Amino acid sequence: MKIFTFTVYTKPMNKMLQQAFDPEEFRKEGHKLVDLLTTYLTDCFSSQTMPVLPPSVPDELFAFWTADLKKPDFNLQEFYTTLLSQSNHIHHPGYIGHQVVPPAPISALTEMLEAMLNNGMAIFEMGPAATAIEKVVIGWLSKHIGFGAEADGILTSGGSAGNLTALLAARQAMSNFNIWEEGNDSNQPFALMVSAEAHYSVSRAARIMGWGEKGFVKVPVNDRMQLDASKLEETLIDAQNSGIKVIALVGNACSTSTGTYDPLDQMADFAARHNLWFHIDGAHGGAAVMTEKYTHLTKGIDRADSVVIDFHKMMLTPALTTAVIFRNGNHSFETFAQKAEYLLSQTQKPWYDGAIRTLECTKKMLGVKVYAMIRQYGDDLFREYITYAYDLGLSFAKFIEEQPDFELAVKPDCNIVCFRYCPKDFSGDLNTLNASIRINILKDARFYVVQTQVNGKTFLRVTLMNPFTTLADLTLLTEAIRDDYAQIL
Ligand SMILES: Cc1ncc(COP(=O)(O)O)c(C=O)c1O
Repeated sequence: MKIFTFTVYTKPMNKMLQQAFDPEEFRKEGHKLVDLLTTYLTDCFSSQTMPVLPPSVPDELFAFWTADLKKPDFNLQEFYTTLLSQSNHIHHPGYIGHQVVPPAPISALTEMLEAMLNNGMAIFEMGPAATAIEKVVIGWLSKHIGFGAEADGILTSGGSAGNLTALLAARQAMSNFNIWEEGNDSNQPFALMVSAEAHYSVSRAARIMGWGEKGFVKVPVNDRMQLDASKLEETLIDAQNSGIKVIALVGNACSTSTGTYDPLDQMADFAARHNLWFHIDGAHGGAAVMTEKYTHLTKGIDRADSVVIDFHKMMLTPALTTAVIFRNGNHSFETFAQKAEYLLSQTQKPWYDGAIRTLECTKKMLGVKVYAMIRQYGDDLFREYITYAYDLGLSFAKFIEEQPDFELAVKPDCNIVCFRYCPKDFSGDLNTLNASIRINILKDARFYVVQTQVNGKTFLRVTLMNPFTTLADLTLLTEAIRDDYAQIL
């Protein structure tokens, strides 16, 4: 091997640059940060007094940081500590709000490595090892989905980007002309069919593709907010009669608001019968394929043309890491056909030049932290985590059903549970009552709970993402709600 000799900088040209890149400074501050985060995690898991959310007023926080920027002195560790105290504590057992996972610590640690290496990933040369690792991770998940050897896909930055990536491929594959080059044909408006409960990124994808509001045809749902398969035929015929060409059917696995799964297997039958692309938005619940107990919820997922699964939801990974997997991996190359002579070959489509297939040009080394978890803990980590969280959702729903003063919005399938307080002696507006209860829960700061609308009614919504939250904690939540009501009266 040739040995190159680079100039050794004893004194870089600039003092600040020297300081900013000083390896010893990094070691010193890094060790302190790891110590800080270790204490933080221990506090999150064990503290009975730590609030889950800081009291936050947007203008006050803005004023605080505006003033901070003007201060002459700065201490990095104090900055980290202040940031911790002003942030939401996702690892706190009372964090049962949005679908944000407490990252497994080694996935966060590995992300620091990714950040330092900062390989760009657009093409193989820019991130060789991480590109190969990404393909291994995609293959690993693809097997769990039940896809065959011809499946392939890509990691991208979030479920919204993932849905768009998959649906762009659907559009290209299902149009009988080169829509990427020629643009939409206004004589033949395209649309996808999806339930009204789909995440907004699906209808947004249709709008981004230029299809407007008519570009997503809503299929009615049943009383559990699942797409009603018996309505598919008439919905399709109505759309066709109004001149719309439906090219894709999108299934929720699961819906964001209520966490129920669409009848994917029946939808796969329908899509096959009508030659529709079948996409599954499994951003939250696609991960159930990792379990034995809950994999039945995803029955039919292996028949989808494309599937999106977020690692940063039910797979213990920091945001954002999303898998977009195609049953026929060739479709992964149809999403984008953009020319970029300086970067992408126009004749070859090698698997290892990721930018051919993603929205991103420069991309983070997304697969590395997932790979580290798979190797360190094995599939059992994901199976245990998802099973625990889903079990907890079902146990909490059962508990709510047993309480005379609470009601469920729908029987849940997983770890998303919507419920509300409805005391018998209350004759006012239950929507207003539950909205004000939520505000008081946030002020109390032992729990972070969100709210949603189901059939026009306001419900409290919890997503049980934290493996440290127990049924006893959730029982405490119901007691806090009762106490709150007693004070409101
Ligand atoms: C079902 C579903 N799809 C897509 C998304 C969007 O994912 P992201 O926030 O990663 O863009 C979400 C987010 O909550 C979701 O629940």
